[in-house]
Amino acid sequence: MELRRELYAGGIKIFKQLGPAIELCDYFVKNILPRKPSLNARGATHANTPENERVVLCEMFEADKQVMSLWKQIITEAKVHEIPKLASWDRVRLRVQQSDGGVDNVHDTLNSTGRFSSTLPIHRDTWASNVMQQLNWWMPLLPIDENRTLKLYPAYFSRPVPNTTHSWSLDELRKYRKLGEAYPQLPEFFPDGMTDEELMQLEEDACPIVIDPGDVLVFSSSHLHGSVVNTCGLTRFSSEVRTVDAADVINDVGAANVDGFSPGCHLKWFRSIYECEPGVNNGATSINLTRLIQQHEPNSPKKPE
Ligand SMILES: [Fe+2]
Repeated sequence: MELRRELYAGGIKIFKQLGPAIELCDYFVKNILPRKPSLNARGATHANTPENERVVLCEMFEADKQVMSLWKQIITEAKVHEIPKLASWDRVRLRVQQSDGGVDNVHDTLNSTGRFSSTLPIHRDTWASNVMQQLNWWMPLLPIDENRTLKLYPAYFSRPVPNTTHSWSLDELRKYRKLGEAYPQLPEFFPDGMTDEELMQLEEDACPIVIDPGDVLVFSSSHLHGSVVNTCGLTRFSSEVRTVDAADVINDVGAANVDGFSPGCHLKWFRSIYECEPGVNNGATSINLTRLIQQHEPNSPKKPE
């Protein structure tokens, strides 16, 4: 609990060389990447590699039972959730970020589910979910550097930034997704709402995360973060998942909401880690979470003072 409290206060935790994380990197290199080696070939860029190559590799990764098993072991071994039965997660994702792709167009229908994102613009995950107990887990699968990684904006954990949460809703996204029409995948940072000086301060705060394969980064989903735009000629392969601890939802312990105003509290995204596969609604959602959903669904986040 102490560790989660630190994370909810903006702390950033790096678990160095976790056994199952090392194993996951090794498994990816030996069993998954060889199915689409072109993604990591010398000279391969976002522009000269067919989109389908990235999509297929992401789908293979998500469907792989060994990947899921190793992620479960990572979460168990890290002990961020002391009672694993109370931990829930969304979908395990693979990110393939190739060079020269620029920033993702979040209005593109390819990006509407978030499954195939490459380079995400600045955001807080909680802008969309409103689950203030949500934690992000992130790890590189192959070596990375400051030119192809994730960046955090630590000073803005508790500082609001202009964004479009006032006019974005998950229900609308789902409606447009069904119709196959464009709708932003997530609420967007709105730079026009900041002065040049404020934007400069923001960029000065950007902190690219460089950790080794086998290391795992954990941070509150309320942190402002995004992808470093990759122009270095090399591909970044990373994996991520988000968790929620049911005990903290019950006790209403979590990060503060500084600038999110979208409706709802989307606990239904999360399924018990030990009762069903991630993202699969097989009716095995934990009893605790079902009750919590009933209690929390009608509530919207409190507006900051
Ligand atoms: Fe994110």
